[in-house]
Amino acid sequence: MAKTEVKARKKLFWPIVLLLVSVIPTLYWDSLIHEIGVDVISQTIKIAKYSIATISWLSVAWLAIRLVDVVIWDGLVAPRLGGTVPRLLKDVVAATIFIIAITGIIGGVFNLPVSGIWATSGVVGLVVGLAVQSMIADVFSGIAINIDRPFKIGDWVRLNIRGIPDMIGCVEEVNWRSTRNKTTDGVRHIVPNSLLGQIIVTNLCEPELRSRFELLFTLDFEVPPERALRILNAGVKAAKGPLADPAPKARVNGITEWGVEYKVRYWLLPADFSPNKGRNAVCSSILEHLHHAGVTLAYQKQDLYVAEMPNRQLTLETDRKALVRRIDIFKSLESTEVDSLSQRITQRQFRAGDQIVKKDAPGESMYIVVEGLLFVYADLEGDGTTTTRVGKLIPGDFFGEMSLLTGEPRSATVEAATDTIVYEITRSDIEDLLAERPNIANRITQVIAERRVSNLKTRDKLSHEEHHEETKNLADQLLGKMRGFFKGLGLGD
Ligand code: CMP
Repeated sequence: MAKTEVKARKKLFWPIVLLLVSVIPTLYWDSLIHEIGVDVISQTIKIAKYSIATISWLSVAWLAIRLVDVVIWDGLVAPRLGGTVPRLLKDVVAATIFIIAITGIIGGVFNLPVSGIWATSGVVGLVVGLAVQSMIADVFSGIAINIDRPFKIGDWVRLNIRGIPDMIGCVEEVNWRSTRNKTTDGVRHIVPNSLLGQIIVTNLCEPELRSRFELLFTLDFEVPPERALRILNAGVKAAKGPLADPAPKARVNGITEWGVEYKVRYWLLPADFSPNKGRNAVCSSILEHLHHAGVTLAYQKQDLYVAEMPNRQLTLETDRKALVRRIDIFKSLESTEVDSLSQRITQRQFRAGDQIVKKDAPGESMYIVVEGLLFVYADLEGDGTTTTRVGKLIPGDFFGEMSLLTGEPRSATVEAATDTIVYEITRSDIEDLLAERPNIANRITQVIAERRVSNLKTRDKLSHEEHHEETKNLADQLLGKMRGFFKGLGLGD
């Protein structure tokens, strides 16, 4: 306490002396002249008067600055900040007091109009301000930094400036224009204060002196996470630099296209062990542990499978087997059966408007639509003249099966609506097939029964249940007929 008092007194001594020396003669000037009675040249007196008045203004300013220093900065602000008051702040206040004093000298001592000077100084200030815009921004940012105190001298900070790698350094000085950071590379970063106001500054020493750092490692999917974590944990714990408490830790961070990404976290005291040194220590240790374990970091790779290209365009001549296999009723056939069927069937081509089967004609073959569109016309009235379109056939559908399988005449006329390609299956072909695959008969009779019911004149009057019942009865009847027609095949038994 006594020490600061002595310091304060020392600070105030000379300004007070100067003030007294200059103010007293100014106050008693007239009586002094009278008493001394010396007839000095009026011009000399005038100069002396101006000089002394000027000095007294300046000494008042000096005293004011020192008083602000002692009472406000050291007495009030410094104890609250818990440290020294930023030099920049003091300088700005001192400069303001001096400017006021100079205005006082101009107006009070020399009796010149101050408003004109202020106006002129405003214009000059504007011009100068534009010219040194960035410098002014730096100064004001410097003031903001000094008041806000995001970091103090000796703190380690990380500057996240877009486009360049993070800059880590120890704050050495914050001055009017820039902040100087010393790095472990033996260089000094001089960062303009205005830039510090626009970027993310991470103080590594606040709120605690220690701070946490992270490193990412990606290992192949083949390395079991349990093993990877064991190696990484040992690696980071073995590194020199990271604190033992809080303990370093490795964990799975996520899955990437390269492999499994692991995050290794460790704590450092940046003031004792710089972050760059810490990163080097942890990386080296982990790489060594991985090397001894025979595990390498993941790198980008691509599996390459070589396989025969599937045939993308089937031709009617050469890919008949593949086309037969796509037809619904033949899906259950074995490969050999498909083979023999596709060798027997004949490909037939029709033009739009051609009648492929005619009603009441005898039928010896059935057809499978491969390409095209066909319409089915039946005589629902039974008068032999009225024909109604009862069905539409598209690729994969079959027709002509009713006559072929029951021996009855054709029940309807089937006409190509567009140019059409069909496969023709004759009675002898289907006989062999049914002998091998009796269940195909069930499927076909079901379709026949459905078609018959839909060709019934009374169809619309049937309820859903009646429709179902009628179809089932018809299918049973048909199967019976087919058994008679294809004697010895054992259909449905
Ligand atoms: P089929 O009687 O031999 O000859 C005419 C063919 O037309 C017949 O076999 C069925 O394949 C087919 N057909 C009859 N009615 C219909 C229908 N309603 N829908 C689709 N096709 C039918």
